[in-house]
Amino acid sequence: MIRIVLLGPPGSGKGTQASTLQKRRGIPHIASGDLLRANVRDHTQLGRQAQPYMDRGDLVPDALILDMMSDRLSQPDAREGYVLDGFPRTVAQAEALEQRLGQLGGEPDAVIYLDVPETEILRRLSGRRTCPACNAVYHVDTMPPQREGICDTCGAELVQRQDEKPDVIRKRLQVYAEQTQPLLEFYRGRSLLHEIDGTIGVDNVLRAIEDIVATARASVQEQTA
Ligand code: AP5
Repeated sequence: MIRIVLLGPPGSGKGTQASTLQKRRGIPHIASGDLLRANVRDHTQLGRQAQPYMDRGDLVPDALILDMMSDRLSQPDAREGYVLDGFPRTVAQAEALEQRLGQLGGEPDAVIYLDVPETEILRRLSGRRTCPACNAVYHVDTMPPQREGICDTCGAELVQRQDEKPDVIRKRLQVYAEQTQPLLEFYRGRSLLHEIDGTIGVDNVLRAIEDIVATARASVQEQTA
C-alpha cells in the first residue's frame, strides 16, 4: 500500500506520469480534473456546478471537491493506495486529506513536485491532445499518437480541452501560484516533499518518480513490519 501525491503547475506532466505508474505498478491513478470532466460530460449536478469555474480557470470550491474525493477514496481499489493527480490543490484540501478523507486517512507517504518553467508549460499545453474516453494524453510534436488525431489506447478521436485557450491557461497559472504553490511549504514542513526537474524528458522523470516511490514503499513496509 502506497499513497503518492503529484504536485505541479498545469501541464507539468502529472497526468502523463500518474497514468504510466498505474499501468506499471498497479497503483490507482486518481485525477480530480478527470473526475470533474466526466461529471461535466455526464451532465451531473456536480458537473453543472463545476463547469463555470473550470471554464474560467478558477478552482472548483473546496466543498464540492472534498465530497467528490471522499467518495472516490472510499472505493475498494483505493484500499491499495493511490497516485493523486490534481488533488490536493489548496491547504484546506491537504488538511482534509490528512484528517478525514476516505478509508486510508492520514498523510501521504510521499509528495512529488514536478518543477517546470512557464515557457515550457505554454508550449506543452498549446500542443496537448487528450482522449475524452480514456483520458490518455498526447502532444502533437513530442508525444504524437500513431494515427493523427486518434487515441492509440482506445481509438477515440482526440480533443483539445476547453481550458486550453491562452487567457484561461494564464488564469490557471495565476491560480496555481496563489492557491496551490503554498502546498510546497506545507509538505516541506512535514518532510514529505520531493522535488524533480520536470523538463528532463518523460522517461527520466518516470525513473526519478519510481525511485522515490520505491524508497517510500520500503519505509512503509518497515513501519508496518
Ligand atoms: P486538471 O485537469 O487537474 O489540470 P491541471 O492541474 O491544470 O493539469 P493538467 O491536466 O493541465 O496538466 P498535467 O500536469 O496533468 O500535464 P499532462 O501530463 O497532461 O484541472 C483542470 C481544472 O479542474 C482546474 O483548472 C480546476 O478548475 C478543476 N480542478 C481540478 N482539481 C481540482 C481541485 N483539487 N480543486 C479545485 N479545482 C480543481 O502533460 C501536459 C503536456 O505535456 C502533454 O501534452 C504531455 O504529452 C506533455 N508532457 C508531459 N510530460 C512531459 C515531459 N517530461 N517532457 C515533455 N513533454 C511532456
